[in-house]
Amino acid sequence: MEPIYEGKAKRLFTTDNPNELRMEFKNDATAFDGKKKAQFEDKGRLNAAISNLIYAMLEERGIPTHFVRSISDTEVIVKKLEILMIEVIIRNTAAGSFCKRTGTEEGWDFSEPLVEFCIKSDELGDPLINEAYIRELKLATADEVAHVTKAALEVNQILQEFFLKAGLKLVDFKLEFGRLATDPSVLVLADEISPDGCRLWDVETGEKMDKDRFRRDLGGVMESYAEVLKRLS
Ligand code: ADP
Ligand code: TMP
Ligand code: ASP
Repeated sequence: MEPIYEGKAKRLFTTDNPNELRMEFKNDATAFDGKKKAQFEDKGRLNAAISNLIYAMLEERGIPTHFVRSISDTEVIVKKLEILMIEVIIRNTAAGSFCKRTGTEEGWDFSEPLVEFCIKSDELGDPLINEAYIRELKLATADEVAHVTKAALEVNQILQEFFLKAGLKLVDFKLEFGRLATDPSVLVLADEISPDGCRLWDVETGEKMDKDRFRRDLGGVMESYAEVLKRLS
């Protein structure tokens, strides 16, 4: 069966239900908007397991997500959405592009979480934008921006606590949201939450346990993902 979409890390397929999709996690890893590529055995399984566990936990805590059910080690049934073409990034601690943009050192904690928006476009390099850009580019309505901001901050609170119990500091992460195919007035959390789109540091040692190991050639990428899954399970 041909996928209806093949991305850098996942494939999407139709199902018998027009309002649901099958999402398959691949073993492919990319960084820097797809410029750096590799394959890691077991990556699809590890990210699917981590993301499913987190989405099930978020649903229990009252956050609506696209998660329907897991059907194999690497495949999940999700609600079909019209994805907002914005990435919502929450930062608790300075790292990554924040440090690059501001010329600051990595690792200092913010007084309050930072909310950032980027255009979801590899071609453009996911540029940082603000609410006025979102309005003028018609990427989302003002109500939707307010909704995703509130939801992302709630998710941050829940995840910070969840990861801390596993000895992990949630430095920053990216979320995607989409409008339900069955009711576009309803926005739900989409895509995945895994070490691909989060920065996670070991609380004791400060060791990086996420995709920065791949971005920075630190080695032990899958060992870290497996350790994250083990601690969360
Ligand atoms: P990318 O497109 O950035 O290469 P992936 O390889 O992870 O990323 O591909 C998954 C794609 O599926 C993403 O573009 C994401 O926005 C989209 N997506 C995630 N969840 C859903 C959903 N429930 N319905 C429709 N599209 C989704
Ligand atoms: P950044 O510091 O590179 O802007 O990344 C912030 C967080 O968002 C980090 O945890 C990685 C995640 N992220 C993605 O998942 N996808 C992306 O395309 C980008 C740019 C960041
Ligand atoms: N998610 C982007 C990519 O896969 C950017 C990154 O993670 O560095 O290329």
